[in-house]
Amino acid sequence: MEIFQNKKELQKRLTKLRNEGNNIGLVPTMGALHQGHLSLMQQAITDNQAVVVSIFVNPTQFNNSEDLEKYPSSLESDIELIASLSNDIIIFVPTKEHIYEGEVVSKRFDFEGLEGVMEGAFRTGHFNGVATIVELLFNAVKPNRAYFGEKDFQQLQIIKKLVKIKGLPIKIVPCPIERESHGLALSSRNERLSQTTRKAASFIYNTLTTVKTKFGTKNAQVIRDWVTTQYDENQLFELEYFEMADVDTLTPTNTFNENTKYRAFIAVYTEGIRLIDNIALN
Ligand code: PAJ
Repeated sequence: MEIFQNKKELQKRLTKLRNEGNNIGLVPTMGALHQGHLSLMQQAITDNQAVVVSIFVNPTQFNNSEDLEKYPSSLESDIELIASLSNDIIIFVPTKEHIYEGEVVSKRFDFEGLEGVMEGAFRTGHFNGVATIVELLFNAVKPNRAYFGEKDFQQLQIIKKLVKIKGLPIKIVPCPIERESHGLALSSRNERLSQTTRKAASFIYNTLTTVKTKFGTKNAQVIRDWVTTQYDENQLFELEYFEMADVDTLTPTNTFNENTKYRAFIAVYTEGIRLIDNIALN
């Protein structure tokens, strides 16, 4: 297992691998790894001869300092988990100074509206922080492919747009959402839930699957009202937003066109923890 903190040393190693004809896949993470992250790594191993996993809790994408402070960190067990998958994965664990090279601040991006809705509307500056760090990681690693989960679907679309705007020669590979057996989408934040709430959180996925069955048979407002009522009647989970949106523009919509793909998106608070999920509707 090779672990790099230093960007220059990582780059020396990657230049050698590239010169030997190896394709490089990058899986950016913030650690506290779970099966969702591992599924991205597995896909990267399938597609590439060399795989880099970055672990860095990026301060500029947290709009809430308490969320940043409480973000779980478990480098040793993360390394063990990665090793259980493959000993050939290269781990990049930069320090803030190493990756940011100067002030730890976000750049400003214009993602043509993708950043203004849902997560962008409720987490001010979040996507500027995400795009800043992902661009820095792309520049450091120069991967052929980079892997992102559909769990953070809006992030995935923003990274695709980033690559397009900057003209980067990187293929963005989307990976499906991994879930606990009862449906809750895997997330590093799930570790902070009480056992009872973690079990009960199948409620979030269940509402989404019901929305999917209602889609096409009911109009959007009826579906929206149904979701609102479900959360009004539930003491444990507080709804932040529920939207149905075109998968490409992410513009929330109340009318559906036959030839457009839609997803439903949800953000929920429970025990002071924010959980997000989404589902393809057609
Ligand atoms: P993090 O939350 O650690 O997630 C790293 C990657 O794992 C993301 O692409 C995310 O969508 C994916 N992922 C998380 N949970 C998943 C699940 N249940 N199923 C499938 N994929 C899942 O997302 C970030 O970190 C950061 O914003 C980052 C891109 C690393 C930039 O700092």
